[in-house]
Amino acid sequence: MSNYSIKNLEEYYKVYRKSIREPEVFWEEIAEEHFSWHQKWDKVLEWDFDKPEIKWYQGAKLNITENCIDRHLRMSGDKTAIIFEPNDPAEKAQHISYNELRKRVNQFANVLKDKGIKKGDRVCIYLPMIPELAISLLACARIGAIHSVVFAGFSATALSTRINDSDCKIVLTSDGSYRGKKTIDLKGIVDEALKDCPGVNTVLVAKRIQSDIHMEPNRDHWLQPLLDKASTVCAPEIMDAEDPLFILYTSGSTGNPKGMVHTTAGYMVYTAYTFKNMFKYADGDVYWCTADIGWITGHSYIVYGPLANGATTLMFEGVPSYPDYGRFWEVVEKHKVNQFYTAPTAIRALAKENLSYVEKHDLSSLKVIGSVGEPINEEAWHWYNDNIGKGKSPIIDTWWQTETGGIMISPIPYVTPTIPTYATLPFIGIQPTLMDEAGKELKGNQVEGRLCIKFPWPSIARTIWGNHQRYKETYFSAYANMYFTGDGAMRDATGYYRITGRVDDVIIVSGHNLGTAPIEDAINEHPAVAESAIVGFPHDIKGNALYGYVVLKEAGETRLHDNLRKEINQKITERIGPIAKLNKIQFTSGLPKTRSGKIMRRILRKIAHKDTSNLGDTSTLLNPEVVEKIIKEAL
Ligand code: PRX
Repeated sequence: MSNYSIKNLEEYYKVYRKSIREPEVFWEEIAEEHFSWHQKWDKVLEWDFDKPEIKWYQGAKLNITENCIDRHLRMSGDKTAIIFEPNDPAEKAQHISYNELRKRVNQFANVLKDKGIKKGDRVCIYLPMIPELAISLLACARIGAIHSVVFAGFSATALSTRINDSDCKIVLTSDGSYRGKKTIDLKGIVDEALKDCPGVNTVLVAKRIQSDIHMEPNRDHWLQPLLDKASTVCAPEIMDAEDPLFILYTSGSTGNPKGMVHTTAGYMVYTAYTFKNMFKYADGDVYWCTADIGWITGHSYIVYGPLANGATTLMFEGVPSYPDYGRFWEVVEKHKVNQFYTAPTAIRALAKENLSYVEKHDLSSLKVIGSVGEPINEEAWHWYNDNIGKGKSPIIDTWWQTETGGIMISPIPYVTPTIPTYATLPFIGIQPTLMDEAGKELKGNQVEGRLCIKFPWPSIARTIWGNHQRYKETYFSAYANMYFTGDGAMRDATGYYRITGRVDDVIIVSGHNLGTAPIEDAINEHPAVAESAIVGFPHDIKGNALYGYVVLKEAGETRLHDNLRKEINQKITERIGPIAKLNKIQFTSGLPKTRSGKIMRRILRKIAHKDTSNLGDTSTLLNPEVVEKIIKEAL
């Protein structure tokens, strides 16, 4: 019998050891006992980090939606699968049962089929946090289409890049979305994006804000009338274990976003197993993750992980500040939420507000509270622990990535003793290690280095869509036979891990991964700009904010600089989205460069951090004089 739910620390160590010593036996038992398969695997694992090639449960046949929906129907058909809490608290929440979810997913799947979508086709989903979003993911999975969700806060350019990269034929969107007091014209953004996407011939539009939008004849269709006509029966497409389930884009340090490809069986097993343990989900609980389904957190821990466990998962359309800063806590009280999972940036923003926003709500239903997306600083950890967890609900500080598919390092609540800011111990089956810059493995404890993983786990992304070479270079080339995470970490005397942050040119702003290169490209498009460099600097709420050093083609008058700052941020909003706007823009006459022409970001980072006492070795600079000038004029 596998230990599906870990109950104490001793059991954790026992199961962990087994998962490392006999990974195939271990993952075979988990898969066998807790999921339904049309056909079992011939081989549990085949891997080679050099090629790289990773295959889990090869030969197995399944459909993930049968595991997420159908198999729960006999015992729990009437149980709520999804609670939808709308942006406006005056609008009624919806409770979608597993029976109803089955019908709605099948209808949606039939509409997609009717539009010519079949196994292996890519479907771009650009929807706000409304039930159709979760349902559309499952509808794709039902028929074996590969979903590619693009967060509905990305700009038209960002959307078209993603649509074209994976050659999507169809886009699912809505007439618009609500965001607090604002409405956003999503369909307008799609129309703009599609000017550059000749491969898209169909757009299905959900009605959300009842706005008067343009519908392109022959291309655009309202979704609801099609759903109403569609059959509620749709036989699941039988998929191979390694068939792609979805593509999800994440920023890299350079170049275009990377379309991470996740496959079916391993992803299902790992997200379900981590969900069960990380949230100590018990039958009847209500679980709420505040992420958007546009990110991996939403894929794994709003949709697939919870539903594979037959859980009740809450989807929230709104924002933490609307109608006031008590909204999260109002929702916890209203739906008697038992597990609450959010990001440090939200915690920091809410901690700044009056405590009465928290105190007026009954949070006694909470059992587990989680954090994800970036390091949680000590102050935020204590605020969360004292005021939300009330010192009794453990905080799980979960470290993982789009590429890892599921939680990798985290305390297991009620099992692992927590320490603020530590993600603590690896989850079952995960073999982290730390490397120094020279490529030596740092053995023992009390060491700090680059975080790598030595052995595959079931939900590791298998490739980058259309660019396996980039997959190899990004994740498997820094260190031989290791998956390189791009993060730094330290391991303390007890073997606990503390993540220290990115060691590459990815900056995490409010929990969103942003690559510096595409932002610099956007800035450089401004006709007045010669070149630019972006670095991160500490920010109270966002964790990091962006600092841009911009060299103008002609120095220009200082009084024009404020206008230029606005225009530069406007460019960034157009090319990427408002999340990538710069907090500070310093105009400068040059950027510090090495003789080979590389910008020395290390120095720029120090200046942005206001830490210029020791700039390290500047002797290799082509233009050391520019550094003094930048320091003098720093913002
Ligand atoms: O730097 C780490 C940070 O977020 C990165 C992954 O971002 P993304 O792919 O967008 O996935 C976010 C949600 C899983 C990581 O490389 N990160 C994520 N969780 C933590 C974290 N840093 C510190 N502590 C965490 N708990």
